[in-house]
Amino acid sequence: MSDIPALHGPLPLTDGSALSEDGLAAAYPWPDRNVWVRAMMVTTLDGAAAGYDGLSGSVSSDADQLVFNAVRRHADAVLIGAGTLRAEQYTPMRAKPEDQQQRSADGQRPAPVLAVVSGSLNLPWDLPVWRESTHRPLVLTSAHADPGQLAIAGKHATVVTLQDITPTTIVTALTERGLTRIVCEGGPRLLRDLVAATLVDEADITLSPVFAGTAHSPTTAALAQVSTFRLGHVLQGDGALMMRYLADR
Ligand SMILES: NC(=O)c1ccc[n+]([C@@H]2O[C@H](COP(=O)([O-])OP(=O)(O)OC[C@H]3O[C@@H](n4cnc5c(N)ncnc54)[C@H](OP(=O)(O)O)[C@@H]3O)[C@@H](O)[C@H]2O)c1
Repeated sequence: MSDIPALHGPLPLTDGSALSEDGLAAAYPWPDRNVWVRAMMVTTLDGAAAGYDGLSGSVSSDADQLVFNAVRRHADAVLIGAGTLRAEQYTPMRAKPEDQQQRSADGQRPAPVLAVVSGSLNLPWDLPVWRESTHRPLVLTSAHADPGQLAIAGKHATVVTLQDITPTTIVTALTERGLTRIVCEGGPRLLRDLVAATLVDEADITLSPVFAGTAHSPTTAALAQVSTFRLGHVLQGDGALMMRYLADR
């Protein structure tokens, strides 16, 4: 008889829409670790990270948005690549008043800090996210960046210059500032680099029940080897599956 891999029955699926906001946040606990990096992404049935308009919102859903908010709710930093900021309309980073009390009890800043990685510093400086976030956003860039662009960036954000922009220097720059609960909201390039450097501890991935084509989905360089994660939980809502995966190490 040939070896047949063990197949398991349906996973216990929880109806995500039935969970309260607090229940959802509790499903995404921050481990008691010095540094924890989680990734949050939505993908379509055909593996696209963006829909017809090049944005993730067009392949998302209300249930995915609930989980998105729960995943970032008690984070210290929301980390994104410049491509994501250029594409997506990031709104000011604030926390609800009721969360601020909990954050303060946990020794956290009142709201997550936005951290944007950019070599070019070609960023949409007119977005309200720069001036209306609770905390001044961070821009992580190269020490060799154009001086004129550095000067412009400094008017809108706290600029952190790194000798080399690598996943390790990015995460170190955040942790040195006490930002140890990090949620990377993409995009695919930044996420790929963090995974390649084995810096992603948790991947919170939503599978949306749509096909979108991949023409507007960014591609990334192949990893030298696959990086394996183990399933933590699956939630469902709006026909989407919200999966929490943990690094297999
Ligand atoms: N499905 C989802 O959940 C999801 C999530 C986020 C984004 N998206 C979509 O993904 C697309 C953007 O993704 P992307 O992969 O193209 O962009 P990305 O990863 O957000 O950003 C890439 C940019 O980040 C900067 N960067 C990242 N690593 C760097 C490094 N090591 N050194 C220097 N600069 C570095 C560079 O900025 P500069 O060019 O400024 O130098 C680079 O061009 C958009 O269409 C967005 O809507 C989807």
